[in-house]
Amino acid sequence: MPTAAFADTDSIIKLPPPAIQGGGELIAALKARRSTRAFAAKRLPQDLLSTLLWAAFGINRPESGGRTAPSAHGWQEIGVYAVLPEAAYRYDANANALAMVAKGDLRAATGMQDFVATAPLNLVYVADFERMKDASDEDRVFYASADAGVVAQNVYLFCTANGLATVVRGLVDRKRLAPALGLRLKQRIVLAQTVGYPE
Ligand SMILES: Cc1cc2nc3c(=O)[nH]c(=O)nc-3n(C[C@H](O)[C@H](O)[C@H](O)COP(=O)(O)O)c2cc1C
Repeated sequence: MPTAAFADTDSIIKLPPPAIQGGGELIAALKARRSTRAFAAKRLPQDLLSTLLWAAFGINRPESGGRTAPSAHGWQEIGVYAVLPEAAYRYDANANALAMVAKGDLRAATGMQDFVATAPLNLVYVADFERMKDASDEDRVFYASADAGVVAQNVYLFCTANGLATVVRGLVDRKRLAPALGLRLKQRIVLAQTVGYPE
């Protein structure tokens, strides 16, 4: 029996309970998603890192270059940087590769909380304002923030589904981190996100 239609004049619509029991992997990941701030030092294997980056903002429609996360106007302005213990890299989704942007351990520079220095991976979401054509400065900030947030949620869900811990972070010393990553003036750090195995 379909649920009876409700009168659109009702001011409160009592919904049926959400169907979250045995609802498949996506519902399980949404149920378990949370922020965690304690990470083991253990490194992520490369195949897991590759899939994580694909989930974050990889290409899911090769014919059009479409990505796993939406972006305003299809600008695809969010660059995903991976700060690993030995160097920092920019994720190249087309080549499925990591391109080094800085040698050395920059993990401590990715945030202002102690765990960032020892967690095995910090992602940094960088908006390239030059890709955001015909947008006002204010709109660039709004859209870049929203677009980075969607990437962050992809990472949350991937981490939850794969036994990884994660927390997205706005608390970043952008003035310190931007030059360390070799960013141009029009590239703005929106968020960072720490990833690792739970401690
Ligand atoms: C835009 C944004 C910025 C955040 N910045 C930080 C941060 O700098 N440091 C931190 O530990 N958590 C940060 N968080 C995580 C929130 O504190 C966390 O999501 C919130 O407490 C709810 O907890 P939950 O994610 O476990 O549901 C941020 C979350 C968002 C969405």
